[in-house]
Amino acid sequence: MKVLGIESSCDETAAAIVSDDRTILSNVLLSQHDAHRPYGGVVPEIAARSHIVHMDDIVGDALAKAQLQWSDIDAVAATTGPGLIGGVIVGTMTGKAIASALGKPFIAVNHLEGHALTARLTHAVEFPYLLLLASGGHCQVLAVEDVGKYRKMGGTLDVAMGEAFDKTAKIIGLPYPGGPEVEKRARTGNPKRFTFPLPLKGREGCDFSFSGLKTAVRLAADEIAVDGALSDVDIADICASFQYAIGQVLEDRMRNAFADFTVRYASRTLVVAGGVAANQYVRTCLEKAAAPFGFTLIAPPVHLCTDNAAMIAWVGVEWMKRGQYSALDTEPRARWPLMQ
Ligand code: KG4
Ligand code: ZN
Repeated sequence: MKVLGIESSCDETAAAIVSDDRTILSNVLLSQHDAHRPYGGVVPEIAARSHIVHMDDIVGDALAKAQLQWSDIDAVAATTGPGLIGGVIVGTMTGKAIASALGKPFIAVNHLEGHALTARLTHAVEFPYLLLLASGGHCQVLAVEDVGKYRKMGGTLDVAMGEAFDKTAKIIGLPYPGGPEVEKRARTGNPKRFTFPLPLKGREGCDFSFSGLKTAVRLAADEIAVDGALSDVDIADICASFQYAIGQVLEDRMRNAFADFTVRYASRTLVVAGGVAANQYVRTCLEKAAAPFGFTLIAPPVHLCTDNAAMIAWVGVEWMKRGQYSALDTEPRARWPLMQ
């Protein structure tokens, strides 16, 4: 069983073909980062136009790289939300058109479910498992019980973790996307130079809050800037101190999540997913917090943590195995929570 997956919900135009034996036959991705960098973030109109221009070639590439013919494809899965609606429309319409032309089933995929189930593609993780989903737009702690079955345990009360990285980067003049840049600069910085707040630390539950941290970064940057400029050392120290605060908060919040999860489930697997899962320091902090509770951390390879189409194709495989398909009049959605 081979599924073509299409992803275009943000600033990556991507197509991939994945088979039900967990083989990624092709995984093609065109990042629009260069186009958005001058604006310091994703410009929805530019993203949508770029998806239209490149989508057909990217899908063609995915087929060619997998050395398959159209007739080899058993189903087409496309992200139909949540995301920037222009891009989501492009991917959804492309997916539906191909499915309809081939006479094969169409599967409407929730982008978040793509992140949530990636560890089943890469590590064959069994249900249930504890999931920290941390991307540019979302930050949630979930119990993943089955395909389509999620129980929310906690989430951010304000901005997402990835957004906190992106905003911090922007404040100190690092290019978009901020997460990888902050991680890189933090490596040489002093994590103790700035004492940033640790929002919600010590409170019950596993909710997060990052807006106070972001504001503290702004205040610190304003205070030490000389003629509005920060030195490389200042930048590295802010990045390291910010990341240290993120790590402290994560460890604290996840300790509560481990305790809560253990009450209901026998599984001791923590999966981290979404763009922030690419961060090595974050992974180390999670491992540290997980060990005393007997949890093992599963983190997909970095290129499958950030947006990609292999994870969308895989969700297609998961639904197809359950004989569940979507109608061709399924509408693209800007908002689509995992919990229905
Ligand atoms: O999952 P993703 O690729 O797209 C969304 O669905 O949002 O996540 C993108 C987010 C961005 O905020 C980006 O800065 C962050 O993930 N990110 C990172 C790293 N790589 C990407 N954050 C921290 N460290 C990284 N290495
Ligand atoms: Zn994503």
